[in-house]
Amino acid sequence: MAKQEDIFKNVVSHAKEYGFIFPSSEVYDGLSAVYDYAQNGVELKKNIREYWWKAMVQMNENIVGLDAAILMHPTTWKASGHVDAFNDPLIDNKDSKRRYRADVLIEDYAEKLNQKAQKEIDKAKARFGEAFNEQEFVTTNARVMEYKSKQRAILERMARSLENEDLADVKLLIEELEIACPESGSKNWTEVRQFNLMFGTKLGASADSAMDLYLRPETAQGIFVNFLNVQKSGRMKVPFGIAQTGKAFRNEIVARQFIFRMREFEQMEMQFFVRPGEEIKWYEHWKETRLKWHLSLGLGENKYRFHDHEKLAHYANAAADIEFDFPFGFKELEGIHSRTDFDLKAHEQYSGRKLQYFDPELNENYVPYVVETSVGLDRMFLAVFATSLQDEVLEDGSSRTVLKLPAVLAPTKAAILPLVKKDGLPEIAHKIIADLKWDFNVSYDEKDAVGRRYRRQDALGTPFCITVDHQTMEDQTVTIRHRDTMKQDRVNITELKNIIESEVAMKNWLMKM
Ligand code: GAP
Repeated sequence: MAKQEDIFKNVVSHAKEYGFIFPSSEVYDGLSAVYDYAQNGVELKKNIREYWWKAMVQMNENIVGLDAAILMHPTTWKASGHVDAFNDPLIDNKDSKRRYRADVLIEDYAEKLNQKAQKEIDKAKARFGEAFNEQEFVTTNARVMEYKSKQRAILERMARSLENEDLADVKLLIEELEIACPESGSKNWTEVRQFNLMFGTKLGASADSAMDLYLRPETAQGIFVNFLNVQKSGRMKVPFGIAQTGKAFRNEIVARQFIFRMREFEQMEMQFFVRPGEEIKWYEHWKETRLKWHLSLGLGENKYRFHDHEKLAHYANAAADIEFDFPFGFKELEGIHSRTDFDLKAHEQYSGRKLQYFDPELNENYVPYVVETSVGLDRMFLAVFATSLQDEVLEDGSSRTVLKLPAVLAPTKAAILPLVKKDGLPEIAHKIIADLKWDFNVSYDEKDAVGRRYRRQDALGTPFCITVDHQTMEDQTVTIRHRDTMKQDRVNITELKNIIESEVAMKNWLMKM
């Protein structure tokens, strides 16, 4: 089996070779943790965004959209707590000179304990087969219990220390656990320090009158400051939501995992405004609903798990991540946070304006509580892309690389291929494109033997290849080849639209939620 590291390298090089993702400004050797989406990447990204938007905005009567500006009044970030508390605890290794997030080093250590426990569970499962009772095993097996309780104790202590700003104890924990620099194996660490992640910029022409601004580190605040504008102009009744997709910027300390952790990235966020006291009910609702959205894409149930936060952010009274099994292990894909009335109250306080809702049923004013769902578009891209990229050995012993993207997200839905570049076949192929392009993104390819063209479309994730041959001239039929099964059917040209539609229509995929 290929090593995780090799799989990941393969993902990065496939993304570049097939026009999905390029390093930013590559002619100047790139810019660390900044990437450009290429001709196929931009389509896949757009489709993921649309799939999210439809599920959140179009399918919910009480959720509307917003597109707030990236630049916001600087007091926004004072009120939100980002100026004072949007920090990562960082630690340097004195020998390797590498910089790490102290909390990530500890979390990785704790995850290894979890993996050891899982190994014991898997071994027992294999030994006892059908009769295996996992619940009982986990609560009675001494080794599993020890691993789990050690893991819990470590995470709880880290959460407590970070909460109390006790950075000396975070360092002590790293030393007690004998965590070594993953690069050099050295345990020679500096103190732990806090580092603010916001990018600063300036508004205005002259140096003395310019105003210090920040590039937004999350899209959420654009929603909070517009809460009352949207509520009033849209005559929204609590509970209701505001959804937004857009760029966010963070000066990440550790930015090494391709598009997993970028300095400029895109978020898809939804803030759901509820009555105080009802937030936990809605928090549970959105946890479940968001997981269903992920599962509807069919990447596999075993690829997701919830991780309830031990350490809550300054604004939350409950929080969980939906973690995904990336090529480098389970990591956060989406956050679901019960943010209480923290943000709206803070903006009231700093702006001096009321941000309250008059509830006609209760006949009272209040600041609504907020449940937020926040997923990184680039992380979604990576999850979908990495899982879909597969090397297959075929029945005849040959192999192929295939990008088994969920068809609804595929950049190109069908490639139209004339068998040869003559005899009127390209003309028919172009006619088919002229019909299909009203409904789908389709492409044309006449270069190389048809087998090679199939392989190229497999690597691009195109769900269908439609081949025009000499028989087409006689009976208006073509072959349609399915990417995943490689099965080919002979069908009439008039049937193509329905066949493609049935596999790629967003409606059919969203109905699986
Ligand atoms: N408004 C809440 C918020 O921003 P977060 O957990 O900091 O919460 C939400 O971020 C999501 O944004 C994450 O689950 C992740 O998918 C994505 N994200 C955060 N930082 C990122 C980064 N540096 N690069 C790519 N995606 C990131």
